[in-house]
Amino acid sequence: MKVQILNFLVLMSFQMALSQNILSPDLNLKMIFSIENGIPTYQLQYRGQEIIERSKLQIVFENASLTNNIEMITSNVSSEDSVWKPVLGEVAEIQNHYNELKVELIQKDSQIKYNLVFRLFDEGLAFRFEFLPQEKLNYFIINQELTQFNLTGDHKTFWIPGDPDSQEYVYNETKLSAIDNSKLDLSNGIALKSIFGNNFVQSPLMMKTENGLYINIFEAAVDNYPVMHLRVDTQNFGLTSQLVPNALGKKAYLQTPAHTPWRTVMVSDDARDLLTSKMILNLNDPNKLDDTSWIKPMKYVGIWWEMHIGKSTWDYAGSQNAQNAADQQLKPTGKHGATTQNTLRYIDFAALHGFDGVLVEGWNVGWEDWFGNWKENVFDFTTPYPDFDIQKVTDYAKSKGIKMIMHHETSGSVGNYERHLDRAFNLMKEYGYPAVKTGYVGRIIPRGEFHDGQSMVNHFHHVVKRAAENKLMVNSHESSRPTGMHRTYPNYIAAEAARGNEFNGWSNGNPPMHETILPFTRFLGGPMDYTPGIFKIKPYEGTEKTEQVHTTLAKQLALYVTIYSPLQMAADLPENYEQHLDAFQFIKEVAVDWQNSIYLEAEPGDYITVVRKEKNGERWFLGAITDEIPRKTKLKLDFLTPNVTYEATIYQDAKNAHWQNNPTAYEIKKIKVNANSTLDLNLVSGGGTAVSFVPLK
Ligand code: NOJ
Ligand code: CA
Repeated sequence: MKVQILNFLVLMSFQMALSQNILSPDLNLKMIFSIENGIPTYQLQYRGQEIIERSKLQIVFENASLTNNIEMITSNVSSEDSVWKPVLGEVAEIQNHYNELKVELIQKDSQIKYNLVFRLFDEGLAFRFEFLPQEKLNYFIINQELTQFNLTGDHKTFWIPGDPDSQEYVYNETKLSAIDNSKLDLSNGIALKSIFGNNFVQSPLMMKTENGLYINIFEAAVDNYPVMHLRVDTQNFGLTSQLVPNALGKKAYLQTPAHTPWRTVMVSDDARDLLTSKMILNLNDPNKLDDTSWIKPMKYVGIWWEMHIGKSTWDYAGSQNAQNAADQQLKPTGKHGATTQNTLRYIDFAALHGFDGVLVEGWNVGWEDWFGNWKENVFDFTTPYPDFDIQKVTDYAKSKGIKMIMHHETSGSVGNYERHLDRAFNLMKEYGYPAVKTGYVGRIIPRGEFHDGQSMVNHFHHVVKRAAENKLMVNSHESSRPTGMHRTYPNYIAAEAARGNEFNGWSNGNPPMHETILPFTRFLGGPMDYTPGIFKIKPYEGTEKTEQVHTTLAKQLALYVTIYSPLQMAADLPENYEQHLDAFQFIKEVAVDWQNSIYLEAEPGDYITVVRKEKNGERWFLGAITDEIPRKTKLKLDFLTPNVTYEATIYQDAKNAHWQNNPTAYEIKKIKVNANSTLDLNLVSGGGTAVSFVPLK
């Protein structure tokens, strides 16, 4: 329901002096729009304190510039307050509550008209440019969007470099003034080095002011438009949007009616408000699918980690046979992971422990030289290796009630994937695979395009839409990061688009703080397939290799609650779970779709404690994680239903546990609690606690 409050024509002669304000529904935030010397600007205040100083909103087309000599024609204020239900989610109901200001502007030289739309929620501001059909504007090219976010101080910032091809970085925690990519190891940042300089960062950009305000800059509903990166003015604490270019250096090709994505600024004095916020989802269009009965949350295991730690391989015949790898007469190396026999073993394990699905990577021909050569025709997505009997595997899975998850690694060769997409989806339907994990490792073909460019954003959405037509769910890896599109297409069940647990298998890994930052950054846009649950924390123990997961075992359990995703993998090998079946019980029990979620404690880079109540049930689950600093805390359990006794099963770090020296020391205890109880948590360095609360009849 949209309530129009006022709509008036502004006399041109008064326009220079005019400013338009709106307040958030709770009155804490104030946005001031004004035109200063012909340039549209906005400011944002939180309880009277300046968050964004006057900042310009300019956009440059190929044939016109909406940069100056701009006047306001009309302005209109309205508001929205409604409730909707996500198909899958952290909560069963979401309130969409904001006040809106829409200003209609004209650029006097070109006579191009456009709108700036501002929405003020309790958690923050969103705004976008809108271009309606008009005589002076039909097809147009955006060369630059110069949206400023002028901050008021040298805030603490959690940032990753502005690489248009990857978000798989460790977060840096520095002052804004110290942002500098030249000091980083950008081994995979090929594009970053060539097109962006040293002062570019990605959004969501999480900041904290000296007086304790949390500020987050991001975007929502990125569609038919490139991803926005941010150029940092380290002297004046200003950010300016930097759109990712296409192969010609242009940013976006549009036709009216068109609009930019929403640019967002969240603010609160309580970090938990940012985690609870559904503003990004609210800025996306409602669900477009009539029938969503086939969209199901999933816990899965898979033939995956064993390749990442080198126990088996994706390829069948070895890289020396790259040239003729499709030749079905090739001899296997004996290390191939995706054999029929191994797959049946995983299916048995999944069925025994109540999982929904099994992912198999390396099932299809092409892995002998899949990566690194910028080669176009790598995979056909339909031909299994000779030792993978797809019929037998699917028949067996069906007999055990297990769903198979398809894997399509494109190695960035996107034209090739699109050429095969329908055949690949047909194969999935023929064998009853309900979900696909896609992957985009490496540089994009068509060459010159970036993962974050307009065409690739359109590709990722095309795959999700085509999948929806086929009633298939999508989990994309190495895609551009989500910006809330799973509201519109709920079959977009998860994405990677950040540095996942896999990095702990073969690199310096993710420091213990990593998972305490992701909820404030990447997760704001949508669920992540982080692949938690590694129990053999030091996979190479007894060899020379020292890579390990930077965690305790108990923290791996807690991640199933602190990371929201309706798709969660139990990523370790069956034999490693069999060593710790008591702890594995938590992964078996934990829900993945939720009635309610309450963030009890949160500080970016330090800790997060959240409790969630399962959908269609009465159980609650708690996850608490810390960075490298041990943490004691006392929690009130007043979220539990009053007058009900629960059995709490607590999976916690042993007193002498430590992510590096003693990661697998944990304790499990059962106690009876109710809504009046308190719970003492004791997290060790890199540790965590997971708790299930089951009501006693
Ligand atoms: C990178 C993905 O993140 C990972 O999950 C996958 O196993 C490899 N690519 C191979 O596709
Ligand atoms: Ca990846």
